[in-house]
Amino acid sequence: MKSRYSHSQDKKNTYIKWGAGSLLALLLIAGSWLYANGWDAERSFAALKGQQAEETEASEEEVDAQEPVSEKPEEPVSEKPKEQEPPVVEEPTAEEPAAEEPKPEEPAVEKPEPEEPKAEEPPAAEEPKEEPAAQQPADATTYQDGIKLPAKPTYINNILLANKQHPLPQSYAPGESKEARAAFEAMKKDAQAAGINLNAFSTYREFARQKQLYEGYAAKDGAKAADRYSARPGFSEHQTGLAFDIGETGQEQHWASASFGATKGGKWLKANAHKYGFILRYPEGAEKITGYMHESWHFRFVGNAAAKQIFAKGITLEQYLGVQ
Ligand code: DAL
Ligand code: ZN
Repeated sequence: MKSRYSHSQDKKNTYIKWGAGSLLALLLIAGSWLYANGWDAERSFAALKGQQAEETEASEEEVDAQEPVSEKPEEPVSEKPKEQEPPVVEEPTAEEPAAEEPKPEEPAVEKPEPEEPKAEEPPAAEEPKEEPAAQQPADATTYQDGIKLPAKPTYINNILLANKQHPLPQSYAPGESKEARAAFEAMKKDAQAAGINLNAFSTYREFARQKQLYEGYAAKDGAKAADRYSARPGFSEHQTGLAFDIGETGQEQHWASASFGATKGGKWLKANAHKYGFILRYPEGAEKITGYMHESWHFRFVGNAAAKQIFAKGITLEQYLGVQ
């Protein structure tokens, strides 16, 4: 008879045998399935190693990637101030003073230029001398057909000439001559002592103003009549800044009127203006030389020397300059 112990021992042995058999069977089944499905232990192992390698590289890349990331922000940070500082602080401030320097000089140079040199200095007189003589029509009262305004005004012996044969550039705009104004004021002062209160009621007229005046006269009296007493735009002596229409304050009824010549003031001017550098520009009986009918109020500043000679000889400016 088997003891209780031996009986249970047998049972245990039986279980172990079944367990081991089952495990073995399972292993066999699994092995067969893996073999049937083409399992390659080497490849699987190599793949496993490769994956580990990739993971290692990836983790290294991450480190590499992180390093520049941590460097990049540093570079811009250190560059930004470099870029901003020089242009903003250094360069502009270095240029500004250079640009500022000429600025104050410009107005100082420009201001004196327009007035005096244009009125008295410009072009040497030689070249225009021949041209006007050759182009001069028989009658100075007429405009040459198709005559155009020139690029430069005409100077003869340093005297600016403006008449129907010698127009001015449209852009010529010197303003009233300071020299002529000073001479007028000296003349006015002396006239005052003689009880005459001179008034220069029209002096410098720019091109546009002359155009307005002439067109008004031509519309009222017709071009033929207007051409006798009013210059077309670009042809007026008033555009030179050297012509002064003079009358007397309180005697406005004689302003720009033939009657002025018979007044005390008109007579005084005719006899004395040359002492101050002015000439009676359109004297009586000289319309075919000057181009305009007599104007007892229109005086032209030519300077003392020329004015004295013109007065003494009793000639016109055209005759004095040799263009008539
Ligand atoms: N009265 C003169 C001629 C002029 O218009 O200029
Ligand atoms: Zn005038």
